[in-house]
Amino acid sequence: MQTTLLLTWATGYIGSHAVVAFEQAGYKTVIIDNLSNSSKDSLDGIEHILWYKPDFFEGDIRDKDFLRSVFSRYTFDGVIHFAGLKAVGESCTLPLHYHDNNIGGSIALFQVMEEYSVRKIVFSSSATVYRADNISPLTEDMPLGTTNPYGTTKLVIEELLEDLARLGTWSVIPLRYFNPIWAHPSGHIGELPNGIPNNLLPYVLDVAIGKRKKVSVYGDDYPTHDGTGVRDYIDVCDLVDAHLAAYKHLALWYTPINIWTGKGSSVLDMISLVEKVTGVTVPYEITTRRPWDLATCFASATRARELLGWQATRTLETSLENGWKFLQNQLKGYSEPV
Ligand code: NAD
Ligand code: WQD
Repeated sequence: MQTTLLLTWATGYIGSHAVVAFEQAGYKTVIIDNLSNSSKDSLDGIEHILWYKPDFFEGDIRDKDFLRSVFSRYTFDGVIHFAGLKAVGESCTLPLHYHDNNIGGSIALFQVMEEYSVRKIVFSSSATVYRADNISPLTEDMPLGTTNPYGTTKLVIEELLEDLARLGTWSVIPLRYFNPIWAHPSGHIGELPNGIPNNLLPYVLDVAIGKRKKVSVYGDDYPTHDGTGVRDYIDVCDLVDAHLAAYKHLALWYTPINIWTGKGSSVLDMISLVEKVTGVTVPYEITTRRPWDLATCFASATRARELLGWQATRTLETSLENGWKFLQNQLKGYSEPV
């Protein structure tokens, strides 16, 4: 019998890619999202790839009656929980909103899961749960601690899930990642944030297509090879493959797992790469550091390899070509599936 999963997002960036990956792996996916940071356009993109639209319910995960109305229609095997607000800067100005949405939403979801005896979950956590004074490469047993409300919401949800796993009836894997990039190779789905992008790569691409004038590079005096911040950028398709592997390996335990490539690139490396792949010059200027930024952040993917048999396989060049293709499609607009 086909396994049915609830995906709490999926009109969002990572979620839309996960829907495709899980459907193509033979799962039935059911999507909920309140469209607060996404639009139904991604469902059209998914349809271009799958030739059908998965079941979608627009609503808020804080609304337990809404959740019950979805849970009562299906027999879910488990949940892939992505829904959340994710902008670090915004979380510092709207901490109550972040706690209410991310933690309040998760509690409502876990309560309804318990009501319907659905106790398998892969949770979209973040490397932001690691204390800032840990030295990269980060490993899963390093001390945890956060510096912003967004990170705190992720840590609280992890702790809540660990408490549930201690009951002996829940199977939980939080995946800790940080800098997913680009798009599906079809060019039909990709990262399309509402408003001004918070993350580097969508901003650089906006400059490459002429939507914005130049990239502000936040500091060039870090102790890195060219002075700019180094991050481990992971292809979104590698990332969703890790979610698939994690779901298959769920057991009665709580195991956080880092999902990284193990290779770091600086801001200037990424701008050069965009210029190389697109053939477009990307103007930039060096500005001041952001207060929360680390010089370097990457992690060990050893546990992911050993427990899940997963490792990243896509190159940055391939990822970028896919991201560029997606943006070109967006500029053209979608046609009906052919
Ligand atoms: P996204 O904003 O594209 O997707 C999140 C989705 O959640 C959006 O579609 C939004 O509308 C929905 N949502 C938010 N609050 C909701 C609510 N209360 N009810 C229903 N839907 C709600 O973000 P993404 O990049 O796809 O990230 C997905 C998850 O991965 C998030 O939890 C994020 O914290 C986590 N994460 C993202 C990154 C990253 O850099 N993109 C890195 C690490 C972890
Ligand atoms: C990458 C690098 C910036 C924008 C963030 C969140 C984190 C996580 C993923 C989920 C840094 C530099 C950026 C720009 C720049 N999400 N930069 N100019 O900060 O590593 O991680 O997203 O959990 O919580 O903090 O990603 O893309 O914002 O920055 O120079 O316009 O690019 O300083 O070195 P970050 P990012």
